Amino acid sequence: MTPDFPQNSASPPNAALSPPTVRVRLRINGNEQTAELDTRTTLLDALREHLHLTGTKKGCDHGQCGACTVLVNGRRINSCLTLAVMHEGDEIVTIEGVGVPGALHPLQAAFIEHDGFQCGYCTAGQICSAMGMLTEAKAGWPSHATADVAAQRIALTEAEIRERNLHVLATLDSLEERRGDIDEESPLVQELARIDNKLNVLMDIVTRLLVPESVLPARHRIRLNATGALVSSELVPSSTGPLLLRLHIDACRALPLELPARHQPGADQGSAFLVFEPLGEAVSDGLERFVFRHHRRKVAEARQSLT
Ligand code: FES
Repeated sequence: MTPDFPQNSASPPNAALSPPTVRVRLRINGNEQTAELDTRTTLLDALREHLHLTGTKKGCDHGQCGACTVLVNGRRINSCLTLAVMHEGDEIVTIEGVGVPGALHPLQAAFIEHDGFQCGYCTAGQICSAMGMLTEAKAGWPSHATADVAAQRIALTEAEIRERNLHVLATLDSLEERRGDIDEESPLVQELARIDNKLNVLMDIVTRLLVPESVLPARHRIRLNATGALVSSELVPSSTGPLLLRLHIDACRALPLELPARHQPGADQGSAFLVFEPLGEAVSDGLERFVFRHHRRKVAEARQSLT
């Protein structure tokens, strides 16, 4: 439907009342583009309305939804919250510069493979945001549990390790079960659990991309429960001091579980038993659930192969 406005017979607006404009040069997806812009134009409007790069979407238009996320000099920003004139000379990447049909960025391919679209409106922003997050993670940016966020190097404290382990376990949960073990019937809680699961899966997609398979350690079979792990003795250093066992579990191989442990003598020849140091209740519970699920699945597989 076309809106029906009365014809305006007035002459063009007085130039003195026109907003000030400025010629802005922007480097977008490797190409230099210029536009004559009202100085108050947001980067989002410049991209969409003036340069016709409509892949970047406008959702809330005030910095809350992230649909408009683009990369500026490798950092993710909400393009609705910044003015185009502030970005002369910056390297801007929009979804149009990330990948194209036939040559998708691995993140785009992963979104397709894992059905990460929902309605698709904000997918461009999610992908740009995930790209920015990969860069942050590679640069060693702190996590939710980091005490000194200004530190040059993030120390692997107990809290840091616990936080990472809980994330890995939650990701494994959502990848393997694909539903929350939640008794609460409230539709809101159910919905939040569903979103949480989906976010965990998306996080896993991102973390899988962080580490190429070629740099991961070789695969080994180990036996594991919430108190310790039985591993081949050739994998265990000869020193008797405290150890940190890093387990890259296949389902989300990039982020390992990091389990402080010590060597307990007495295992069969060729094996070493590592007893975990206290892991905290939440991590122990998560580990127990993981082991139980794994066991249950193996039993089901074995039964199926007999039928
Ligand atoms: S449009 Fe929602 S954050 Fe920019």
